Amino acid sequence: MFQSIELLPADPILGLMATYRSDTNPKKIDLGIGVYKDETGATPVMTSVKKAEDLILQSQMTKSYIGPTGAAGYNKTVAELIFGTSLMENLGNRRVTVQSPGGCGGLRLAAEFIKKANPDATIWVSNPTWANHVPLLVSAGLKIESYPYYDYNCHSVCFDEMICCLKKVEKGDIVLLHGCCHNPCGADLNQEQWRQVRDVTLEQGFTVFIDLAYQGLGDGLEEDTFGTRLMAESLPELIVVSSCSKNFGLYRERTGAISVICDSDTTATIATTQIAAAARAMYSMPPDHGAAIVELILNDPDLRTEWDAELTQMRDRINGLRVQLVSKIQEIGINEDFSFIQRERGMFSFLGVNVEQVQRLVNDYSIYLVNSSRINVAGINNDNLEYLATSLAEVLAS
Ligand code: LMR
Repeated sequence: MFQSIELLPADPILGLMATYRSDTNPKKIDLGIGVYKDETGATPVMTSVKKAEDLILQSQMTKSYIGPTGAAGYNKTVAELIFGTSLMENLGNRRVTVQSPGGCGGLRLAAEFIKKANPDATIWVSNPTWANHVPLLVSAGLKIESYPYYDYNCHSVCFDEMICCLKKVEKGDIVLLHGCCHNPCGADLNQEQWRQVRDVTLEQGFTVFIDLAYQGLGDGLEEDTFGTRLMAESLPELIVVSSCSKNFGLYRERTGAISVICDSDTTATIATTQIAAAARAMYSMPPDHGAAIVELILNDPDLRTEWDAELTQMRDRINGLRVQLVSKIQEIGINEDFSFIQRERGMFSFLGVNVEQVQRLVNDYSIYLVNSSRINVAGINNDNLEYLATSLAEVLAS
């Protein structure tokens, strides 16, 4: 029976990670998968995380099951980080949060939940969107459409086209937005644009679903929630999926959450039972370790201060690298305008080169980036900046 199954190509992002690891070129640069890297190219465990892990190891008395919805303390703390304490109070029991195995687990739970709420729902994703959004949502049986989001020629959000498209989305459908640090393009909505999207949502009656995977890596922990909080305070319903992979560096610990805001406390209680049942049917319950770390850090004033400082350092490094890359490109005499990279936020930007040029960077220069020309800005450092810019110049010139 098994002979009939097809060989699948490697995942576009994860496959690149494996190829990079096997490349022996000492000049190789990894601008592929979205993991934070420090100046030495390492992805270290954050000091606050190490300290929390030590405390957990010393104090943990049991490894007994917690349950499909995860740890109540983690759920509350993570919701406070996203929504802030006063909005949390206002939302009361209309808001529920369920721990998930990473952001991906949260997205899949959201898809299962949407499927139960409206089996005919279409999810509208941005064009472009993160490569794994579509497989995650389609595998739950949902239909996908896309709305215009990024103008590759102007290197910015094509907001008029986006709004024009959203004005045709109907009640019962879902619009997936990136809360901050858009993956893959790095171009975010500004505050006025978020307000306009909110207004169209209210007019049309569709449901907004926010993927918040990079809180704290754009402009700041609070700043990066502007759109999410605006939607949460204005809309009767909202889904937010969040991740602690990037802002706590907990990638492999699979630590995320789904928060759902409903129009009433009763609906929110029912929603929790649906999400818990979906979790139970897929993986029973989420892993505990990463969530225990996050809960401890966010509730311990010293650890929280330390984590905040570490996160600020990461964010400042990425934003600094954006500026450095743009000035290096200018310095070595590339004529094209790359200043958009400086205006974008989060780990990613498109370099704006075509697939053949990407392939040349990968094959001839060992500079790894996905075919869309998305780069992980955090993969740049003082040692590789010159090589990156000169290789880019050569590829553009040929
Ligand atoms: C990325 O976009 O590179 C990250 O979110 C990692 C992943 O799982 O794709």
